[in-house]
Amino acid sequence: MSGNFLTEAFCRYKSPCYVFDSDALLRRVAFFKEIFPEKVNINYCMKANPFLIEASLEFTDRIEVCSFGEFLITKALGIPAEKLLISGVLKKEEDVEEIVDHCREKAIYTAESISQLEELERTARKYDICLNVYLRLTSGNQFGMDEEVIIDALNNINAYGHLRFYGIHYFSGTQKHKLRIHEREIKKLDDFISDLEEKTGQKVSHLEYGSGFGVPYFIDQKEDATSEEYLRDFSSLLENMRYSGEISIEMGRALAFDCGYYLTTIRDIKTNRGRTYAIADGGIHQINYDGQLRGMYTPYLELIRDGNIYSIDSEGEFHYTICGSLCTANDIMVADLKSQKLNTGDTIVFKRAGAYSLYEGMQLFLSHELPAVALYSRKEGLRLAREMQETFMLNTVRK
Ligand SMILES: Cc1ncc(COP(=O)(O)O)c(C=O)c1O
Repeated sequence: MSGNFLTEAFCRYKSPCYVFDSDALLRRVAFFKEIFPEKVNINYCMKANPFLIEASLEFTDRIEVCSFGEFLITKALGIPAEKLLISGVLKKEEDVEEIVDHCREKAIYTAESISQLEELERTARKYDICLNVYLRLTSGNQFGMDEEVIIDALNNINAYGHLRFYGIHYFSGTQKHKLRIHEREIKKLDDFISDLEEKTGQKVSHLEYGSGFGVPYFIDQKEDATSEEYLRDFSSLLENMRYSGEISIEMGRALAFDCGYYLTTIRDIKTNRGRTYAIADGGIHQINYDGQLRGMYTPYLELIRDGNIYSIDSEGEFHYTICGSLCTANDIMVADLKSQKLNTGDTIVFKRAGAYSLYEGMQLFLSHELPAVALYSRKEGLRLAREMQETFMLNTVRK
């Protein structure tokens, strides 16, 4: 089999590295747009993968920004404030000040508590502007506010002369694989919106709903929540709501998971007590699949050897435990890989590593490097987004 952009990335950026295919992100957005009702917007949660925000700009409606650090990324890239939804369970006074100073009335803001509302009001008053604010409804955890708190706030809206009630924001969790969960949430939102409108006289014109669609990471895992059939049923649920305002579906994982590849090279192979271990130069500090447990599940993999890319021969007669380079017996990326014979120098490509994967490991453990990150698109080819970074200095006492 011949090489492709992954073999090229390996050649240029070495191992370990990540490659994100921005065309794949656009294909995902197009797939959702094609199925969702026309009135539905698609917003990209950048926490899933900040390297993809520029690619997401053209076809998604907004980017959800969940921390001051994320805001600084959008600012550094010159992302227009009109494209931003500023959220986050903690909004520090000095951060709100800087964000509002930069974004002014162009961005939309969420309030997750009464003190956040007051903070936004204070800052908007200072600049003599009026901010659009979503009120986030809780799902029973530290995020958002109770129904009654939101209703009371809206009945007291005159206290917030520099805020405009924009709508309701709701997100209850990720990796949802069952339509009945979405059905229950959509009904709950629909009932709450009616109740709120009746009790406050306020019209809800926007609903920002983080659907948390589940995605399949492992071989034999079913494609359920992002299958066409599921999404058509999900769309019918939206269409059948009594609520008739605008809807934005906010997603991270379901848009980005499929566009990421993690490349790590096998540097040693040995057999201990009858089990063959392949030791790679990456590890679980650099890659995480939601639901993975000591490599018990096999992700979608490919193999780079001598500049060519090959499928893993799942009928092969060899068994390997693919480990990383951490000093913990938990550093198992695949517990039992059935494949053709592997050699040192072979590079394993972990697929579907586009969302969260790079961010959920313990990257500073053992002072290993942060992998290089490359972006790929057909139009622009490969480009380096981040060089490999040493981390030892972050774990070194300053002299
Ligand atoms: C408020 C909010 N919206 C959306 C998301 C994205 O969830 P997912 O990646 O499952 O689409 C998250 C993830 O944590 C979130 O906190």
